[in-house]
Amino acid sequence: MLEKLELVNFRNLKNNTLTLKSGLNVFYGNNAQGKTNLLEAVYLLSSGKSFRAETDKELISWGHQEAKIAGTAPPLQIELEIKEGGKKLRVNRQAKRLIELIGEFLVVLFAPEDLLIVTGPPNLRRGWLNSFISKIDKNYLFNLAKFTKLLKIRNSLLAQKALGRGLELGVWNKQLVELGILLWFSRRDYLGKINEQLKTLSPKLGAELIYLDSITQIKLTDQREAREDFEKKLAALEREEIRRAQSLIGPHRDDFKIIFEQKLDGKIVSKDVGIYGSRGEQRAAVLSLKLAETEIIEDSKGKKPTLLLDDVLSEFDREHREMIQKLLYRQQSLVTTTSLGFLEKKLLAKANIFYVERGACKAVVTAQGGGKGLSV
Ligand SMILES: Nc1ncnc2c1ncn2[C@@H]1O[C@H](COP(=O)(O)OP(=O)(O)OP(=O)(O)O)[C@@H](O)[C@H]1O
Ligand SMILES: [Mg+2]
Repeated sequence: MLEKLELVNFRNLKNNTLTLKSGLNVFYGNNAQGKTNLLEAVYLLSSGKSFRAETDKELISWGHQEAKIAGTAPPLQIELEIKEGGKKLRVNRQAKRLIELIGEFLVVLFAPEDLLIVTGPPNLRRGWLNSFISKIDKNYLFNLAKFTKLLKIRNSLLAQKALGRGLELGVWNKQLVELGILLWFSRRDYLGKINEQLKTLSPKLGAELIYLDSITQIKLTDQREAREDFEKKLAALEREEIRRAQSLIGPHRDDFKIIFEQKLDGKIVSKDVGIYGSRGEQRAAVLSLKLAETEIIEDSKGKKPTLLLDDVLSEFDREHREMIQKLLYRQQSLVTTTSLGFLEKKLLAKANIFYVERGACKAVVTAQGGGKGLSV
């Protein structure tokens, strides 16, 4: 859990020190005041990366040379210094590489753009799954990094072969198969876990049963059979791969569908939410994925991640909002909104509330005594 957050010259948040609680922390304020910037800073403490900036420079307040984010998430004290030339990380006062941050202080983010996980192209679904598994499983993270490097080399070899040059592919194919099988089977296992979670979460979110249906190019029941199948398909595809200078089979070509199962005239019908879902159904599906992720992280790591919800509540109807809010207390949640009216009074009374205005976050005192400092 994140107990304390300090920001210096991070985007429009010039100088903020916040004390956060377990359960619900709400950040409310008008447009363009700094709410998403705040969640972005917390996300950076978790992954070393921004979920929206292209360059480090964007993160530094205009007219300044350096931004600082510091967070206390016991037993970790994480400090990130951001300069145009790059970031410097220190954990408990020791210099670390950014990749070492992954899996330490854990967050799950749901921003409006995440709707694309359901409606967008397959690489966004793979991206979500990869980042989720990497938070829990360091082997997966390293295998994925190796696989990505391997693909680059293999594709450039394919391009050379297309010109009649280049080495044999044998040794590269062997590595592709080995790493591919490892990634595929991890994904299969995690999709299974997600589906288990979705079964319990769907009714709580007032959704029909949601599940994920994996689409891979080979059958993933037995490792040995899968390996043989992969090798066979690779051999059959060689000429086409050389012609197109692309690796045409592997986990980088996976996808999964998000299915809603509902009763219609007494019959169970399945629909692909990405294609047939309403906007509300698509949002509920993404939220379900994020909550499932939260539960699975807790099961594997023994602690719940911090949930970051950026401006998500306003987009649901009242009934859904109420159901979602109840789930927000099960872990530390940082929620942004343009109006407190989107939150239930009963739940707000227990929340830690901040008012965000022109880059300053001020704790608000509620009638029940939640929050400290300034009353708004
Ligand atoms: N590097 C930067 N330096 C200073 N200000 C910045 C920087 N980058 C972005 N901003 C500004 O910070 C302000 C707040 O942005 P933010 O995205 O946090 O708004 P928000 O409160 O989430 O608003 P909304 O409700 O519209 O989503 C914006 O006006 C934005 O232009
Ligand atoms: Mg915002």
